[in-house]
Amino acid sequence: MSADPLIDSLLAALDARPDDLPLRLHLAGLLIDAGRGAEAIAQAGQALARDPGNAQAQAVMQRALGVPAAEPVAPLAQRAVPAGDDPLAAYEQELADVVPPRFARAGDEREPVQGDDDRVYDVESPPVRLADVGGMAAVKERLELAFLGPLRNPELRRMYGKSLRGGLMLYGPPGCGKTFLARAVAGEMGAKFVSLSIVDVLDMWIGNSERNLHELFEAARRSAPCVLFLDEIDALGHKRSQVSSSSMRTLGNQLLAELDGMEGDNEGVFVLAATNTPWDVDPALRRPGRLDRVVLVLPPDAEARAAILEYHLRERPIANIDLRRLVAATEDYSGADLAHLCETAAEFAMADSVRAGVVRMIEQRDLERALSEVRPSTRPWLSTARNVAMFANEGGVYDDLVAYLKRRKLL
Ligand SMILES: Nc1ncnc2c1ncn2[C@@H]1O[C@H](COP(=O)(O)OP(=O)(O)OP(=O)(O)O)[C@@H](O)[C@H]1O
Ligand SMILES: [Mg+2]
Repeated sequence: MSADPLIDSLLAALDARPDDLPLRLHLAGLLIDAGRGAEAIAQAGQALARDPGNAQAQAVMQRALGVPAAEPVAPLAQRAVPAGDDPLAAYEQELADVVPPRFARAGDEREPVQGDDDRVYDVESPPVRLADVGGMAAVKERLELAFLGPLRNPELRRMYGKSLRGGLMLYGPPGCGKTFLARAVAGEMGAKFVSLSIVDVLDMWIGNSERNLHELFEAARRSAPCVLFLDEIDALGHKRSQVSSSSMRTLGNQLLAELDGMEGDNEGVFVLAATNTPWDVDPALRRPGRLDRVVLVLPPDAEARAAILEYHLRERPIANIDLRRLVAATEDYSGADLAHLCETAAEFAMADSVRAGVVRMIEQRDLERALSEVRPSTRPWLSTARNVAMFANEGGVYDDLVAYLKRRKLL
């Protein structure tokens, strides 16, 4: 938090009255004076998003962009061209300190837990709920039926003799919200979220992997109720027959033992795993009591795309954006592609502002231009998936995928 009580109370006041422009601009001015340029830009951007023509807001933005100015700075256009071959690049470089980070990466607020011997995993209580996940009604329903419902109804569980064991594997193209959903499930349950990327395990734990995997599960057991999220599970559970290195094989076996609760009581530990390539995952991992439910997470539908775009534009100065058009033009874009799209549009508008020396909003044309540069990344995945759906749908594991591909006329 900041050290300035006046700024803090203005921030609080603004939370209650987000449309109060004079208040916002006053706050932006104070932030500039306090040398907090990035925050001032964000505030001025919000003001401009609400009232793009507002001259005072424009002026505040200009000042904010000039911030780490111990002494007053001339407007951009009048400033000497910084040395170097490419003045534009040099200006951008110069602005890099004052322009806010393009994105607050999801989960940046959490602290990795660092154990005695370089164990790194995260334990957090995610603030996101399923309601924060835009669209994706089918996935939410699956999660509700397979996971959350039984969890909320101990009576029902007793009736059906179902324990709280076992886990669920999320699969689908990259960047489509698997990690986001897993955190939302933990948030929904009010449970802790312990997450680990298997690829990190392999990098960090060479030689010590089994013991460390065991300690990870122990940490999860101590934090119960908790969701233990194993990302990139294919890296570890890779069909054991294909894995040549024996250390990987023992690590895979260790994971099976942990999942089976042979190494400790898993009551209250809900394992969610994620992968882009479920066909590479050891089928042994999917036996009953292990990751026995499989949920397909598809590229975001229209409602999800609207939510994702709004999220990534929320703190940027935008004017007259036609969200419906963007949503219609972004079928097959992943959540990550959409984030990249917004970032690219912002870059165009910023480059223009730097070039002209006049700050301007991010407009529809910037996003349209970005659309021609940022292509949807899920299509290669869908074509691989198509082969799997055709030739390897043993036991109907990929029925959801088949249905989707048929619906899209890709099969
Ligand atoms: N339905 C959604 N609603 C809101 N935001 C979403 C949604 N889906 C994805 N996002 C956004 O897209 C970003 C990428 O999603 P996420 O990291 O969860 O994808 P992933 O499937 O885990 O990708 P990878 O396979 O690369 O690990 C998230 O940070 C989130 O902000
Ligand atoms: Mg992920």
